[in-house]
Amino acid sequence: MEGPFLNIVKTLDRSPTIKHAFLNEHYHSTFGAIQESNHVFIQAGIQAHGKRELNILELGFGTGLNVWLTALYAKEHSFKIQIDTFEKFPLSKEVSTAYLEALIQEDLCTQDGAALFRSLLDCAWNENYQLNDNCSCSKFDMDITSLKSHAHYDIVFFDAFNPDVQPELWTEEIFKLMYSALKSDGILVTYCAKGQVRRNLKAAGFSIEKIAGPPGKREMTRAIKHAQII
Ligand SMILES: C[S@@+](CC[C@H](N)C(=O)[O-])C[C@H]1O[C@@H](n2cnc3c(N)ncnc32)[C@H](O)[C@@H]1O
Repeated sequence: MEGPFLNIVKTLDRSPTIKHAFLNEHYHSTFGAIQESNHVFIQAGIQAHGKRELNILELGFGTGLNVWLTALYAKEHSFKIQIDTFEKFPLSKEVSTAYLEALIQEDLCTQDGAALFRSLLDCAWNENYQLNDNCSCSKFDMDITSLKSHAHYDIVFFDAFNPDVQPELWTEEIFKLMYSALKSDGILVTYCAKGQVRRNLKAAGFSIEKIAGPPGKREMTRAIKHAQII
């Protein structure tokens, strides 16, 4: 496929990911892309939060896998979710479509699920789109640093490329932006469990919970913005 730098690769749960050859980095865990997404963002994020009406912010739309699983979860469990997702380097239509085809080939989505994924890929950037009765989405083709929200989100899906590849996104400054965007008692979830990342989250004001990671990773991180006692 798909250009000189991007290849679709099968992960251990059969779901596809994309390898960015230039960065030598995958868009998801090679131990299982769907498994990781479900564990880190759906279970440790949406399920753990406790509310059924949620505003979610995602850093890194990538293939759309997290947003798609969120919309499926919202419908299945009758949640109401608005998800805003930022992507500085959108994948081409060709690569995104090849990713969806790989999911279909592995029998990892129903016909309805595939139609939902297609509509997610087709909807315009920077507009709000109703994905199903329970989930709407705005995809912004923008750098996360342009985020202006304050106390608006319940959950942040922090899904940047890992800190060795993109250290500039795992800084105290970026985490302060996320902290400010979250409501009190909002949470940030990420697959990353590195000590320096946790120290930067703490410096930005978060409390840290270490929780078990998805298969292939011992731990992940949930960071909480506790209500301020004045
Ligand atoms: C690990 S991948 C995200 C995978 C994605 N959540 C999914 O479900 O496929 C990281 C993404 O962050 C994007 N990215 C990198 N720098 C960014 C920035 N400054 N602002 C927004 N997105 C960025 C990358 O282009 C990439 O798509």
